[in-house]
Amino acid sequence: MLLPASALIGLLCLSHAGGALAFARLLDDVELRSAFSVARTNSMEGGPKMTVTFDAVYVNIGGDFDPKAGLFRCRIAGAYYFSFTVGKFPHKDLSVMLMKNRNEVQAIVYEENAGEERKVQSQSVMLQLEFGDTVWLRLHGDPRYALYSNTGHYTTFNGYLVYPDTYSFQTHHHQHPAQQPHQDNQATEHAKSGAMEAEEEQLSHREEEEDDHEEEEEDQQRSAFSVGRTQSIVGVDQAGLPQHQPVGFDAAFVNIGGDFNVTEGLFSCRVAGAYYFSFNVGKLPQKTLSVKLMKNHLEVQAMIYDDSQGEKALQSQSLMLSLKSGDTVWLYSHQRDGFGAYSNHAKYITFTGFLVYPDFPNTTSTTSTTSTTSQSYGDKKP
Ligand SMILES: *[C@@H]1O[C@H](CO)[C@@H](O)[C@H](O)[C@H]1NC(C)=O
Ligand SMILES: *[C@@H]1O[C@H](CO)[C@@H](O)[C@H](O)[C@H]1NC(C)=O
Repeated sequence: MLLPASALIGLLCLSHAGGALAFARLLDDVELRSAFSVARTNSMEGGPKMTVTFDAVYVNIGGDFDPKAGLFRCRIAGAYYFSFTVGKFPHKDLSVMLMKNRNEVQAIVYEENAGEERKVQSQSVMLQLEFGDTVWLRLHGDPRYALYSNTGHYTTFNGYLVYPDTYSFQTHHHQHPAQQPHQDNQATEHAKSGAMEAEEEQLSHREEEEDDHEEEEEDQQRSAFSVGRTQSIVGVDQAGLPQHQPVGFDAAFVNIGGDFNVTEGLFSCRVAGAYYFSFNVGKLPQKTLSVKLMKNHLEVQAMIYDDSQGEKALQSQSLMLSLKSGDTVWLYSHQRDGFGAYSNHAKYITFTGFLVYPDFPNTTSTTSTTSTTSQSYGDKKP
């Protein structure tokens, strides 16, 4: 594998000045981009061919998504965020699963209501992928099911790389204390080590060590979780219950940094910064759905509420929050009788969050210089 000339220049600069580090990192990041956003402009009925394909491409950075095949194929190992929205076809049921490789069901949207109305349902999840893993959407194979779309692009599918696996992690298998061990199959492992050997030849020992050090620091600035729940939540009136308990989870797709306590259902901020959160919950028939995103003690940040009588359905919500170290974020489902949320083994209930931008370290002189400059520039404006 040949590194582009610009990257080599970056690597050469690396050993000289600290300022070049940022430059090299920037080039590095360009190499590590992967993102897609696609849409479907016509409806699809359940049948033997269950892969949802797409005919409109908004974004395909890295070319990792094949719209005709409906397949995202992982080129850069790492943690990816996926979200999708599908339209419900009038008089049909809706059931679309996000698949990883052949059979692993990760998350689902559904609507068991063959009523005449059209509406959309959304789901999102973060997945840890290895080279060659595929991610795709599967429509239920029964013709009773269909998804709706037209030139209005109701049906969309997006994904992007949030945290590439670091070079040091891949090469030396540094185990982050809280990171979950990967379950690689042998073929993937083989392909990966081949690519890595080639890469290693390009780097001298010293550069490699510096690289390791730099990336370990960057590792500390990572935080991401994505969890699913396989059981419904049913509120019951019960004396002596702790008043507000977080929704607990039993499946973790991603827990980078180990900041999310899965059984407890609690995210504790370690790295201050701006975080993106999304959550999806199913509605139980005849129950009121009331799930809130909480920050610290009882501060409601966002919520989902649905007291319709009807069938099962899925609701989604997302937002960004600025967090300080020690802040906690969790989901609360109203615990009283008559309230609840639906899930089963297909994990309708999911909760995802990840650090988008860490706060700048305090007490840097560069920050004050920059703000002074922009201030004086602003003053000069007519
Ligand atoms: C999660 O929280 C529970 C209850 O507070 C605690 O017993 C458990 O050790 C925690 N797990 C981790 C991994 O920190
Ligand atoms: C940032 O630094 C200033 C001065 O050293 C200090 O007063 C302030 O508390 C610090 N802020 C944070 C968030 O650490």
